[in-house]
Amino acid sequence: MTMNPKDLAKKRTGEAAAQLVKDGMMVGLGTGSTAAFMIAALGQRVREEGLKIIGVPTSFQSVLLARKEGIPTIPLDEATHLDIAIDGADEVDPQKNLIKGGGAAHTREKIVAAMADYFVVIVDDSKLVEKLNTTFALPIEVLPLAAAFVTKRLEEMGAKVDLRMAIRKGGPVITDQGNFVLDITFPGGIDDPVVLEYQLNNIPGVLENGLFVDLADLILVARTGQEEVQRIE
Ligand code: A5P
Repeated sequence: MTMNPKDLAKKRTGEAAAQLVKDGMMVGLGTGSTAAFMIAALGQRVREEGLKIIGVPTSFQSVLLARKEGIPTIPLDEATHLDIAIDGADEVDPQKNLIKGGGAAHTREKIVAAMADYFVVIVDDSKLVEKLNTTFALPIEVLPLAAAFVTKRLEEMGAKVDLRMAIRKGGPVITDQGNFVLDITFPGGIDDPVVLEYQLNNIPGVLENGLFVDLADLILVARTGQEEVQRIE
């Protein structure tokens, strides 16, 4: 089956990241279509090279993929420190700040990224932006009982707010923690991600927002149609 150029780019960056993993490492396993290629490539190394690693998945999606690939895992609540974490992103700015949560997994993803010595972000070049929130909405995980209140607060801050709806289920998306996701857009994008990350998490009822500030150590960018994977450090 032929793969489209964007998926080929995602596969290349996923494979490049899997090569960074060394024997004996504890590895954070990200969520999303790009991370899925990385998990597949890691699984291949486990089977073919006898690579000994322990994965810490960031979602039910990555639990199931790791299991399918034969990667041993422990649950997130048993982990406090990781050697490396590898994950996709929805937007990456020139300071290596990110928007994540397109797959509604950003809460666990941020915990995993924060406990890793080295956080590697794998993207195709469509994810690179000059300013965050200009091509992708910022996801906010909220307690369902606080969704209306948080929406009002966010609108007062000038954001357009959409409750994320499920596709093959009636009603809203429910996260792996049983919460709702609000996708928010600030006209003109986000001027100060550092301040906004704190402001958003300070609203009662917000569990976590998808701004990843000063967490990424390395961005691996695959450009469609090009073999080489670019490193941004
Ligand atoms: C999951 O919640 C997200 O943070 C993903 O890592 C992000 O949406 C990137 O996903 P894709 O690799 O599928 O674009």
